[in-house]
Amino acid sequence: MLRFWSGGNIARNKAMVEQLQRYGVMSSKKVAEVMETVDRALFVPDGNPPYFDSPMAIGYNATISAPHMHATCLQLLEKNLQPGMHALDVGSGTGYLTACFALMVGAEGRAVGVEHIPELVASSIQNIQKSAAAPLLKDGSLSVHVGDGRLGWPEFAPYDAIHVGAAAPEIPQQLIEQLKPGGRMVIPVGNIFQDLQVVDKNLDGSISIRSETSVRYVPLTSREAQLQG
Ligand SMILES: C[S@@+](CC[C@H](N)C(=O)[O-])C[C@H]1O[C@@H](n2cnc3c(N)ncnc32)[C@H](O)[C@@H]1O
Repeated sequence: MLRFWSGGNIARNKAMVEQLQRYGVMSSKKVAEVMETVDRALFVPDGNPPYFDSPMAIGYNATISAPHMHATCLQLLEKNLQPGMHALDVGSGTGYLTACFALMVGAEGRAVGVEHIPELVASSIQNIQKSAAAPLLKDGSLSVHVGDGRLGWPEFAPYDAIHVGAAAPEIPQQLIEQLKPGGRMVIPVGNIFQDLQVVDKNLDGSISIRSETSVRYVPLTSREAQLQG
């Protein structure tokens, strides 16, 4: 697993963002601003060093992704997270990225999380309520739903940005269908060997796909399979 720094000695969210900038993971000012605004400590389970650059267990065989992966995905999607746009976060887990998306698209936009473990949906809502994205949850422009994310969330489609936080054996067709022309999806694809794929829907509806980097995510699967480990 790629890791940019170790040790639990980073004590502040801002210092974590500065480390991401120092290591060249983050160049976008907008992404730095949103990651500074949404304190990761509110989303990492108690007892873990919140700013350590590593995924961490959140129960139910799931993890919160590492800060460098959150930064990478936010940067890849930045142009599709402009004010007023629609964003879907599949496998929203702790709700961290959904909260970041919501702050980027603002009250005129829409940020939707879909997670298939009801307990994680409930705790993610509590996390978001403590965060800077709480007003957006209250006004309804941010919502988190229990569901099978492989089916997307048609109610608020089409989406300018889709992030998938778990590795799919192949790109789910429903997610491609729910992507707006001009939209972008970032999705880890593969089983043991996985690539973070960037899927662009062109204005004529055709699809362009490229691989950004090798990654290691938990699988995008059924709830039963995940709970059985
Ligand atoms: C690596 S975790 C990422 C969570 C989130 N991005 C975060 O950082 O907190 C992947 C999440 O995908 C969820 N997941 C896996 N398969 C799913 C499916 N079919 N539908 C919805 N969620 C799914 C898992 O329960 C887990 O919470």
